[in-house]
Amino acid sequence: MSGDRKPLISGNWKMNHNHFESIQTVQKLAYAIEKDDYEACDVSVHPPFTDLRSVQTVLQADKIPVSLGAQNVHEAEKGAFTGEVSAGMLDKLDVEYVIVGHSERRELFGETDEVVNAKATAVLHTGMTPIVCVGETLEERTEGRAQARVTEQLGGSLAGLKPETVEDIVIAYEPIWAIGTGETATPGDAQEMCAHIRSRIAETFGAKAAESVRIQYGGSVKPGNAPELMAQPDIDGALVGGASLNAEDFARIVKYRIYQA
Ligand code: PGA
Repeated sequence: MSGDRKPLISGNWKMNHNHFESIQTVQKLAYAIEKDDYEACDVSVHPPFTDLRSVQTVLQADKIPVSLGAQNVHEAEKGAFTGEVSAGMLDKLDVEYVIVGHSERRELFGETDEVVNAKATAVLHTGMTPIVCVGETLEERTEGRAQARVTEQLGGSLAGLKPETVEDIVIAYEPIWAIGTGETATPGDAQEMCAHIRSRIAETFGAKAAESVRIQYGGSVKPGNAPELMAQPDIDGALVGGASLNAEDFARIVKYRIYQA
């Protein structure tokens, strides 16, 4: 990570932790993460929808400087969309970051770049920050199409956004083959793609947006590999799945600086 970009370490809990377990996890996190850590990086947790209110209450009551995040949102303001949750509802719970276009949403729930774009726009409309996920499959990587795929996803997912808006969003580069598999992109490969993403942002939205936008890496980030990944100049944070479920492991990732050579 370089420049003035403050790293963002996010825990994506996926469909894990009921609200009691989520409360316990944030309380443990509050013990493990110290003032210096919050000064060095921003931290967000993304529990399931059913836990948001409980986690919000704990964060506020105990003045824990962890941001509340969501894992998904519906693009419409309101209406007959059974089972869905709007950006306005999340905003009312003091949610700050919303993950959009996670590869599991794209692959299992058929989300296209157009849908991801509409969701990111809805999130921005309420003043929250989208974490827009992109990433290639193993097949696309082996066939040398990884950069082309990510370029395409970026083009579709960020279509129509203003440069001054793109400055403040977060992009998560998550190679699909590295998610939940224990297989991490090498720091060099992750850096290469994150640099590519930044250069695409520069071309489309200008140098200022490219300098300011934060790019996270995600895919089997663990306490052991976080320091080296975070040392890369174009990696400004991590989107952590499995390892974020355990407060001690997640706190060690947040404290990556201590373990850096
Ligand atoms: P993982 O998940 O850390 O378990 O690989 C990352 C993600 O899906 O965001």
